[in-house]
Amino acid sequence: MLVDSFGRGVTDLRISVTKRCNFGCVYCHDEGLGPIDRPRAPHAEEISPAEVERLVRVAREFDIRSVKFTGGEPLVRDDIEDVVARTVRHLPDVSLTTNGSMLAHRAEALRNAGLKRVNVSIDSLDPTAFQSIRHGALAPVLRGIESALHVGLTPVKLNMVVFRATLPHIPEMIRFVSRNAGLKLQLIQFMPELVSPRDWAVDIDGVKKWLESRADRVLVREMHHRRVYQFGGAEVEVVDPVYNREFCMNCHRIRVTHLGELKGCLNRNDDLIATRGLDDRELRDAFRRVVAQRVPYYGGYVRDYPARDPEAAPLLRLE
Ligand code: 5AD
Ligand code: SF4
Repeated sequence: MLVDSFGRGVTDLRISVTKRCNFGCVYCHDEGLGPIDRPRAPHAEEISPAEVERLVRVAREFDIRSVKFTGGEPLVRDDIEDVVARTVRHLPDVSLTTNGSMLAHRAEALRNAGLKRVNVSIDSLDPTAFQSIRHGALAPVLRGIESALHVGLTPVKLNMVVFRATLPHIPEMIRFVSRNAGLKLQLIQFMPELVSPRDWAVDIDGVKKWLESRADRVLVREMHHRRVYQFGGAEVEVVDPVYNREFCMNCHRIRVTHLGELKGCLNRNDDLIATRGLDDRELRDAFRRVVAQRVPYYGGYVRDYPARDPEAAPLLRLE
């Protein structure tokens, strides 16, 4: 296993297969790589299925256990099934994060290619709120979730970005997942450092206390020490990286960009290592280097990032 200088072993690879997306979420951080591209934008440079396969084969040598595909929107690629099929040859634990809008007619082919699970981003069950946040339609996403459940891409984790516009929708989303055994909810703290405006942020600790007061059980996951709250029938995981040293100190993930570069942290772009043109020995070396230069982002790397001004941006609370 590759272990960084803070003792964090790397067990997980997150691969962005495209920078293109058919949605335009107001909060989009595009994996820290700048504005997303439109679906028909030129994409000849995107990482190929063969490149993914080689990266995964080498990652496997280093005992990396799971791979998650992300974007942009991975399903804008018409060869994503091939990408998945080549990945599972080396590593069976493969999942994918999608906006869900094109999932309904591809869920079965993805499952047949070997995909295990999906995360579907859905910030509200109200079509008008959804449209205004995502700049896309809710109905196809709901159909995509149904198909994923139907073909067994489970558990289907619903990703909800928690910020000003979505906070009031949390209780309804919890009711929605509690009605279906195949669904789980992930509440993702809005990350303001890659996008603006900062005053969209809400009091995530307040959300956690609110969940804790209702939960039958609270668990802590090894990855990022994320809290998992279990209610009668529902499971809610909180992903709260912002200024959270505990989260960063328990991060076991490295990334690959849509151009095949290795990336040590979502929030950094000064550590990218190109892998195109490298032979296998050089590629192993690139993995070692990207891990060696990892730092816990919120644990000292940022020195001059302005602290939140509580007067200018009061934190919201759940009633
Ligand atoms: N803060 C938190 N989560 C975000 N996502 C995209 N942008 C942000 C942000 N600024 C989430 C999406 C999706 C996942 C890929 O990243 O909701 O679930
Ligand atoms: Fe960004 Fe994902 Fe929304 Fe597309 S669906 S705009 S990639 S957050």
